[in-house]
Amino acid sequence: MKETSPSRLALYNALLVVAVFTVLWGAVGYLFTPLNIVAMLVLDLLLFALIFVSFQYTLQRFIYRKIKLIYKTIYNLKRKKGDKDERRYFYNKTIDSVNQEVQEWGESRKLEIEQLKKNEHYRREFLGNIYHELKTPIFNIQGYVLTLLDGGLDDPAINHDYLLRTSKNINRMIAIVEDLETISNLETSQIALNFSAFDIVELAAEVFDFLEIKARKRKRELVFEKTYDKPIHVYADIKWIRQVLVNLVENTIKYGSGKAGITRVSFFDLDENILIEMTDDGPGIAPEEIPRIFERFYRTQSARLREKSGTGLGLAIVKHIIEAHDQTINVRSRLDVGTTFAFTRKKADKNS
Ligand SMILES: Nc1ncnc2c1ncn2[C@@H]1O[C@H](COP(=O)(O)OP(=O)(O)OP(=O)(O)O)[C@@H](O)[C@H]1O
Ligand SMILES: [Mg+2]
Repeated sequence: MKETSPSRLALYNALLVVAVFTVLWGAVGYLFTPLNIVAMLVLDLLLFALIFVSFQYTLQRFIYRKIKLIYKTIYNLKRKKGDKDERRYFYNKTIDSVNQEVQEWGESRKLEIEQLKKNEHYRREFLGNIYHELKTPIFNIQGYVLTLLDGGLDDPAINHDYLLRTSKNINRMIAIVEDLETISNLETSQIALNFSAFDIVELAAEVFDFLEIKARKRKRELVFEKTYDKPIHVYADIKWIRQVLVNLVENTIKYGSGKAGITRVSFFDLDENILIEMTDDGPGIAPEEIPRIFERFYRTQSARLREKSGTGLGLAIVKHIIEAHDQTINVRSRLDVGTTFAFTRKKADKNS
């Protein structure tokens, strides 16, 4: 039942008491003395006014004012800067609506706290991951340098080799720090995208050329799904889309190894957009791991065992870049069959 305001509650009560009084008075009058209608009406009116005023006063003073105080406190907590002060509308509200408002406010606070806790957990995990990833190359470098200082520098059997290993470890650290910088810049929107129209087929061919040697080493073939003899112009930031393609192709090379596999790129015309798909016939990703692969530093269990090189930042960067282009990246995968990453980009002629 919908809650009534204090005035209405007082009105109902006054009417009830007056009705009961009138019936009783009438009965008594019927038995003992003749009815005086005018006197009864005046009495009813007086009684009604008295009960109405006293009832309303009691409600306002002892119940509503106290609730209003609580409401005021909560209202002040929930009111954002610049919001209109609507406390004076309190008397127009029923207790039910105030209750609902307070409940909604409590619910939103609960969600906020949960989100803050999640962020805090994420931050701690993130710091732990950075430490873990940088620790290995730093300790390796320390080991090589100490050995070289302890006389290794004069030993032609190791000096060149240890310097080379030191340099490799430094390059690994640089790669991690650069990836972190890219993510941080993308997250804080410090990167202004440079949109232009370009041929995505040509860009993919260029990425294939760039990764050709790496792919051949791992016995991977990089191909187009079919012959695209006409250019397909999309509108995007070419530098960042190139990075997306490189990261996706590199993953197919790394995680498809062991199989004499093929990485295929295909383009589909979706009226306003071009759908770009990258498919491999690698080991695939377990369904429960799919939602996590775009997290920073996340690597699947099998990837950790199979592939040493890798930090788990590549797909986090891909996701940020695609989202900065107002699109989403999707993945379909079946274990032992393969994986497809797909994203869309606006056709160039719709914008330029
Ligand atoms: N094509 C793929 N097939 C199977 N697993 C994949 C594929 N692509 C990504 N993954 C899984 O997703 C994880 C995250 O990929 P991501 O590119 O972010 O990290 P990485 O390749 O391990 O390291 P980085 O890209 O930073 O060098 C990988 O470690 C791997 O477990
Ligand atoms: Mg990667």
